[in-house]
Amino acid sequence: MIFSRTLPSLLSVCLVVLIATNSIPAAPPHLAKKGTATQLLVQGEPFIMLAGEVYNSSSSNLGYLAPIWPRLGAMNLNTVLVPVSWEQLEPVEGKFDFTLVDGVIDQARKNRLRVVLLWFGTWKNMVSSYAPAWFRADPKRFPLVIDDVGNGLPIPSPFSAAGQAADARAFAALMKHLRKIDEAQQTVLMVQVENEVGLPNSLRDRSPVAQAAFTAPIPGELALLLHDHPDRLTRELRAVWDSAGGRTSGSWAEIFGDGPAASELFMAWHYARYINAVASAGRAEYPVPLFVNAAIGRKDGKIGSYPGGGALPLAFNVWQLAAPEIQMLSPDIYYGNFDGWCRSYSQAGNPFFIPETHGQEIGAANAFLAIAGHNAMGFSPFGIDDPAPSSGEFARAYDVLKQLTPLILAHQGDGSMNAAVLNHDNPSQTLTLGGYTLTVAIRRPRKSVAAVDSGYALIIAEQPDRFVVAGKDVDITFAANGTLPAVVELNRVEEGIFLEGRWVPGRRLNGDEIMLDYGLSTLAAKNQTGTGLRFGAEGPTIIRATVFRREPVRQQ
Ligand code: DGJ
Repeated sequence: MIFSRTLPSLLSVCLVVLIATNSIPAAPPHLAKKGTATQLLVQGEPFIMLAGEVYNSSSSNLGYLAPIWPRLGAMNLNTVLVPVSWEQLEPVEGKFDFTLVDGVIDQARKNRLRVVLLWFGTWKNMVSSYAPAWFRADPKRFPLVIDDVGNGLPIPSPFSAAGQAADARAFAALMKHLRKIDEAQQTVLMVQVENEVGLPNSLRDRSPVAQAAFTAPIPGELALLLHDHPDRLTRELRAVWDSAGGRTSGSWAEIFGDGPAASELFMAWHYARYINAVASAGRAEYPVPLFVNAAIGRKDGKIGSYPGGGALPLAFNVWQLAAPEIQMLSPDIYYGNFDGWCRSYSQAGNPFFIPETHGQEIGAANAFLAIAGHNAMGFSPFGIDDPAPSSGEFARAYDVLKQLTPLILAHQGDGSMNAAVLNHDNPSQTLTLGGYTLTVAIRRPRKSVAAVDSGYALIIAEQPDRFVVAGKDVDITFAANGTLPAVVELNRVEEGIFLEGRWVPGRRLNGDEIMLDYGLSTLAAKNQTGTGLRFGAEGPTIIRATVFRREPVRQQ
């Protein structure tokens, strides 16, 4: 009796001690849905990666890498994307050298930064320059892609079972090592598998095995999706499939037409199968989130303008079916319409993360848009270790995002947060949040303040009448939603900062700091007062404002 009463409490004491001493590791980093968003959970807590990717060769030498971390910390990054090259991990077949991996993780920890590792294995930017020499020197054992005139390209074939097995074994060794050294501390958040795979100009592999696969019926899973759930196809795939006749059985060309799309989708399937085998071997050792990145090309997704077979929206459904061990398809956004690419990569249930893009001023604006406007779990400009001087705006933007992280995490996925990026072609935008319509416009020129032609803001409706806004070079005005006419008055407007999630107000803003327009009669006729939130060039800065509505006054 005594035994049975004391045992449970003894067990719970042991459990508490084990957790407190970190002897029971938290679940590895993983993804979790929150409303329409997917968040990354690290040691059980949601996490936003304010990240940047170092240049390709920066992590090949620990001495070169060491002084970079403090600079990135000073830029307010919390995460760094760092390549791990297969040739340096397995220089001799079957012999693994973890010196660089250990050094990267050790340096990151000393600088209180997390990392996302980039596995430069079989493919890096289509080709294979990071695979070990023993792999690249033996095309008989590890066959190459054959182009349409019979030449072998410097690209290992995704049809190579031997290549797949060799890459999978190396990746599994890496992931096993990560579990051993990092499961408790979780410095490594996620791993990218390969880098920007695909073939130029919509080529496809013309080796005999590939030719046979191209003329065979499409894989059963894909045929089933087309038959049972055409509603789940991406816009891009649906358009191609419909125009080829909407068939659900046949070969790739019979189903997706005679054009380049069939080749791209076919190659996508086989890249995805190969990468899935690599990913599966890795996740069996240590199941952190795995993702692939895609080069989107200069022509805004026009077929043939990017490495065909990569994880572009045209091929999302194919990648998702063929590579279930890959949790996320991620865009490297250097070209085209940033907002449009964010939308494309948030469709079909794809969790959203941007591993490569531009930094500096446009990066600051786009980080706001991706994280607050499109629920991204992270943002990462490429070449973040570039020594060129910067204006400091990007670092300020990350500082603001860092301050707002608890709020952003709480509001992602529930429709109470949004962002706007304005420029010459798009000088103002309206956002509906918390019962109000907010007009975000590039700030008007004022005496002694130079005119600008761009600006950006993110807005969080903490409550229907209370907003946290961060921005630069914008004016923001409020109008009431709903059927009854109402005038919206600013109530309390404070600039300030968040310190560990707690609002620390600075100046109470009023007068010139909120008066945007004195055309009072014209404004009154439109139920407006001329007041608004004003964000200057020094930003981004944070303002917290409450508003109220009152009835409009009209003398009969
Ligand atoms: C995209 C690649 O993924 C990166 O590794 C790097 O090569 C950049 N392009 C260079 O712009």
